[in-house]
Amino acid sequence: MSVIELRDVQKLYGEGSARVAALRGVDLTVEEGEFLAILGRSGSGKSTLLHLLAGLDRPTTGTMRVLGHDLANAGPKELATYRREAIGIVFQSFQLLPGRSARDQVELPLALDGLPRAERAKLAAAALTEVGLGGRLDHTPAQLSGGEQQRVAVARALVRRPPVLLCDEPTGNLDSANADAVVELLVRLQRERRCTVVMITHEPDLAERAASRSVRIEDGRIVEGRVVA
Ligand SMILES: Nc1ncnc2c1ncn2[C@@H]1O[C@H](COP(=O)(O)OP(=O)(O)OP(=O)(O)O)[C@@H](O)[C@H]1O
Ligand SMILES: [Mg+2]
Repeated sequence: MSVIELRDVQKLYGEGSARVAALRGVDLTVEEGEFLAILGRSGSGKSTLLHLLAGLDRPTTGTMRVLGHDLANAGPKELATYRREAIGIVFQSFQLLPGRSARDQVELPLALDGLPRAERAKLAAAALTEVGLGGRLDHTPAQLSGGEQQRVAVARALVRRPPVLLCDEPTGNLDSANADAVVELLVRLQRERRCTVVMITHEPDLAERAASRSVRIEDGRIVEGRVVA
C-alpha cells in the first residue's frame, strides 16, 4: 500500500521578480514500511518538500495524498488532525523547549491530546527509555549533549506512534559519532514499529546505511532513484 503519493507537485514562493520555483514537478510514491532518504544540495527543495509532506504548507499545484489525506486541498482542521495523528517530525535543530525536562518535552504532544497526567508520564518515560534516555528524564536541554537532545526529539516525535516519521537533516547538527547513533536509533525504531520514514540528508553514506531506498532532488525535481538495500 502506498502511504505517500505525490504527482507533479510544484511549489512557488514569492511574487514577481522575487518568484522562486522551489519544486518543479515532483512525482514520488512511498510504500508502507519504507525508509526513504532524500538527498540533494542546499537550495534544491528538500525542506520545501518535507514542509509539504508535514502539512505545514500546501503545494501551488499538483496532487498529494498521504494516508488518505488530500494534502493539496485539505483545510486547516484536516491538516491539524493529519499533523496530530499521522506524522511525527524531527528537525535538524532539535526544537526543544529551553528549561523544560526531557519528560516535559515528550509529554507535550500527549497533553495536547488531553491525556491524563499519569498516563502521559508513563508513555513519556517509556518513549525516553526506548531511545536510551531512561536515566535522563529530568534533564533540561542545556544538561544534555546534542545527540541526547536529538534522541529526546525522536522520542517526542514517536510517542504518539504516528505511522509516518519525517526527518529534516536529523543529524545535521551532530558530530559523526552522535550522527551514527541517531541514525541507528531511527533504523531500529522504524523496524520495531514498522512505521514509514522519510529522511532528508545531504550525506550519501548516511542514506546508504539507513535507507531502504534513496532518491536525489535537484533544482526542484527528483532526478534519480536507487534501491540501496
Ligand atoms: N519561505 C520561502 N520564501 C521564498 N523562498 C523560499 C522559501 N523557502 C525556501 N525558499 C527557496 O526555495 C528554494 C528551496 O529551498 P529549501 O529550503 O527547500 O532547500 P533545501 O534543499 O532544504 O536546502 P538546505 O540543504 O540548505 O536546507 C531555495 O531557493 C530557497 O531560497
Ligand atoms: Mg533544508
